[in-house]
Amino acid sequence: MEENRKRIFSGIQPSGKIHLGNYLGAVRNWVQLQDEYDCIYCVVDEHAITVRQDPAELRRKTLELFAQLLACGVDPERSTLFVQSHVTQHAEIAWVLNCFTMFGELSRMTQFKDKSAKHADNVNAGLFTYPVLMAGDILLYQADLVPVGEDQKQHVEICRDIATRFNYNYGDVFTLPDAYIPKVGARVMSLNQPDSKMSKSIPEGCVYLMDKPDEIMRKFKRAITDSDTERCVRYDRANKPGVATLIDIYAAVTGKSYEAIEAEFEGKGYGAFKPAVGEAVVELFRPIRERTEELLADKAQLQQLYRAGAEKASAIAGRTLRKVYKKVGFLER
Ligand code: TRP
Repeated sequence: MEENRKRIFSGIQPSGKIHLGNYLGAVRNWVQLQDEYDCIYCVVDEHAITVRQDPAELRRKTLELFAQLLACGVDPERSTLFVQSHVTQHAEIAWVLNCFTMFGELSRMTQFKDKSAKHADNVNAGLFTYPVLMAGDILLYQADLVPVGEDQKQHVEICRDIATRFNYNYGDVFTLPDAYIPKVGARVMSLNQPDSKMSKSIPEGCVYLMDKPDEIMRKFKRAITDSDTERCVRYDRANKPGVATLIDIYAAVTGKSYEAIEAEFEGKGYGAFKPAVGEAVVELFRPIRERTEELLADKAQLQQLYRAGAEKASAIAGRTLRKVYKKVGFLER
């Protein structure tokens, strides 16, 4: 690991399988960032239990997500990839940081307001202090940059506020992190509701990394196109949102410009375009799916990888936590 590289930390919830939106919007960037940064990536199973989870399912999803991240190209030699609950310092620092976070601040978090409305029968304290656990994730590793989607920017801001408050009391303990919204992050819309983001809550419009080729092709062939009369492949998000969604996907997968794509399909209708986008996604995902299957077939190797990741992570996290414990006045053991 090169010195003086900036450090990146990011987390992903084991809430389901990786889909095209997650891949093009986040995971592909995680992989590219490894060339330039010292990257630490975490499967955040502790955050996941702020809403009810089936235990066997959560275990399976955590392992599958870990395998999928490796298959996508997160490289455990260059980076650190681990499972949050394997590194005890996350839960430990969260307690301390709770005592440096204000009730009022947490009450203003938009995600808390949304989630407590959605899970009105289970507005637990973990849901409320979710941003504190997340702040601990970031601060334990002294991360400079935190790649996140727009929806998580507020959480990175409260992390900075908590760190600033702690540093004000005890000196420079924590690096202040910045949210990092990647330049080339594609926002992928649902294939059958092109005004909503692709998500597992709209299953027919959502393409998963682990979908078989014929499943992917079926979803693309059924993708909504527009009922305009010209029926040509032209980028016009306002008037032709279905076609724009497909062009965005095709552009993100192939690296081609809108102009090049329009030229490629000049004189051909949607009937030719939709399967072409499907094919491109099939070929993008094929090697990743096969690699994931290989990894999941060798549980002992996976276990070895996540144990090694946890060990690397906890060496760094342990240094920060010891410093924090000392600063707040805990008696050394
Ligand atoms: N809250 C993030 C999400 O839902 C996941 C997350 C947990 C995270 N800890 C993090 C992201 C630390 C970045 C850094 O997407």
